Amino acid sequence: MKHLQILTTKDNSVTIYNTELNETYHSVHGAVQESLHVFIKNGLHYAIQQFPDKELSILEIGFGTGLNALLTLLENEKLSRKINYTSTEPFPLSMEIVKELNYGQVLNLNGTQGNQFIEMHKSRKLLTENFNFELITTEFMSIDFTTSFDIIYFDAFAPEKQANLWTKEVFEKCKTLLNTNGLIVTYCAKGEVKRTIKACNLKLETLAGPPGKREMIRAIKSNPSSY
Ligand SMILES: C[S@@+](CC[C@H](N)C(=O)[O-])C[C@H]1O[C@@H](n2cnc3c(N)ncnc32)[C@H](O)[C@@H]1O
Repeated sequence: MKHLQILTTKDNSVTIYNTELNETYHSVHGAVQESLHVFIKNGLHYAIQQFPDKELSILEIGFGTGLNALLTLLENEKLSRKINYTSTEPFPLSMEIVKELNYGQVLNLNGTQGNQFIEMHKSRKLLTENFNFELITTEFMSIDFTTSFDIIYFDAFAPEKQANLWTKEVFEKCKTLLNTNGLIVTYCAKGEVKRTIKACNLKLETLAGPPGKREMIRAIKSNPSSY
């Protein structure tokens, strides 16, 4: 995995830099900061209001370093909801790289939390009282899902690096996988992505982005009768 290098971002948390793609896994302005803003605040917290009573099911496109899954696990220790978290990643990181990620230190993880993070990478499964995690090491479009989801953390590489994951076909699949009132959140707010999402009849919301990025997107699968 010579094409993957560890890079420290502005909030001191690391990310991975893929030299072949010339692309980082997170914003260089702050990896933890970005994940907290886009996925936890505008995804998880929003969904909790939409679905106050039910078990939440989350799908992630692009597990990468596992930071979004880790932050969701940690946040849920406070929320105490039942969460089923399915992540997808065709190119899992080697354990050598995973051990170099400094999230344990930056997030002040205790021993149990640190082990849980390693387990998600190593065993690709984790089951705690409130968090049921599974990593599928197949690319998103080839997976036949048997469940539906309340939230999709859409965390693919940027459209200019990986255009095949930002097509109408991909967002149509996301829409099919979502429960009514379910949502997609992503860090990317490019005009073309907005147009593709709108063309899928998803309700588009443009929100303030994390530091260093002007905007981000939330897309909601409204009740068909409200179209
Ligand atoms: C922006 S990075 C991941 C960020 C990740 N959520 C994290 O916290 O590190 C995009 C990820 O999508 C993965 N990926 C690439 N093609 C994919 C596909 N077809 N389906 C799912 N994931 C894919 C990449 O390998 C990479 O790990």
